[in-house]
Amino acid sequence: LPSTYSVHDHGHGQGHGSHHDGRDLTSLIADPSREADVELTLTARRERFRLASGRQVDGYTLNGRSPGPQITAEVGQLVQVTLVNASVPDGITLHWHGIDVPAAMDGVAGVTQDAVAPGASFTYRFVADRAGTFWYHSHQMSHEQVIGGLLGAVVVRPERPAKAIDVVALTHLYQGVRTINGSDTDLSVPAPPGATARVRVINTDNGPIPMWVTGTPDTAPRLVAVDGTDLNGPGPVERAAILVTSGARADLEVRMPADGSPVRVQIGGPLSVVLGGGTLPPARRPAATLDLLTYGTPAARPLADARPDRAFRYEIGRRPGFLDGVPGLFWTVNGRLYPDIPVFTVAEGDVVRMTIANTSGEVHPMHLHGHRVLVLSRDGVPATGSPWWTDSLNVEDGESYEVAFRAGNPGVWADHCHNLPHAREGLMVHLMYE
Ligand code: C2O
Ligand code: CU
Repeated sequence: LPSTYSVHDHGHGQGHGSHHDGRDLTSLIADPSREADVELTLTARRERFRLASGRQVDGYTLNGRSPGPQITAEVGQLVQVTLVNASVPDGITLHWHGIDVPAAMDGVAGVTQDAVAPGASFTYRFVADRAGTFWYHSHQMSHEQVIGGLLGAVVVRPERPAKAIDVVALTHLYQGVRTINGSDTDLSVPAPPGATARVRVINTDNGPIPMWVTGTPDTAPRLVAVDGTDLNGPGPVERAAILVTSGARADLEVRMPADGSPVRVQIGGPLSVVLGGGTLPPARRPAATLDLLTYGTPAARPLADARPDRAFRYEIGRRPGFLDGVPGLFWTVNGRLYPDIPVFTVAEGDVVRMTIANTSGEVHPMHLHGHRVLVLSRDGVPATGSPWWTDSLNVEDGESYEVAFRAGNPGVWADHCHNLPHAREGLMVHLMYE
């Protein structure tokens, strides 16, 4: 087991401080005297529970259900979540996937905190500084606990929300059963003719999920946001599926047909969000897939034009090795096996460029904590659509992406594959501020 997934005695237990390489992170945590705007307690248990169809699954719950409660905040609000471990023997944490929280709140067991043991608790505090769709999940034994359902949705609303029906569709696979918001039946949402709906799809699985929309011939959605960042000038997506990367979010905007007919948003297969009344059978997946490299309208991208202060190469391969003394085929980074892999070092304020190249034979959804990155190119072809910011990037076998980000969030950050068994098998590096 990579050490970043186990418990080490070099973090804090509870409270509001942590030390890394002598750096006091207390100052980075939301002002301790400020009162929380959104406050809740999440109590985790390992237990058996029931899906809508009656099927039982073994997994993890938060406040008695999986997914856990949706957390909704307005931009700028201070969120305070007390995580209580009622009965998870391995310990638990919460990571705020896509939210650039201070490092000490990032919830990576063994790196930013110790796992919360049974009977113990930990309080997370952060300011929801960007509107968008995010999610939270355990980051202790993630390959088990996330798959088992220790997760939930986070929606940060903008200051002036658009007038739209707002739907969260968190999809998760429980022991082979696809669900939306914990139910293995269609999610029906009333929507009058002419109304606009925003459907926030959250992929909590280990692999990419295609989604597509069916309705009357004029029903074409727009992909308005990816990974919590709005796209510029998104046009209608016609006869194409949208691939939602593992860990990623895709917000669709759908205009309800004037004739009162329904719209079906299919997520991975027949299971759907059905907007409006009436019947509409599921349809086949369109042959084409939307390419985010060219989707939307270009806009100024100062970060893309800035001269980089650092450049890294993150090359993913595969070769034989050992995990816990057991031989197998393992992922490599720059030819090396975990934990003998590079640490990428940056200084605050740096413009960083990273090339992520994959020759490992499988797809890897790469997730950098604490930052979002701007996609510059794929296989040498520059991005020409809307600026495409991401925190969960699907890197297919044989592909090479160039991304850029600004180092603006000091700490120690994980940068790993979100196919979580792959992370356990060593596809994980750290980004460290000097
Ligand atoms: Cu959503 Cu390190 O994970
Ligand atoms: Cu992977």
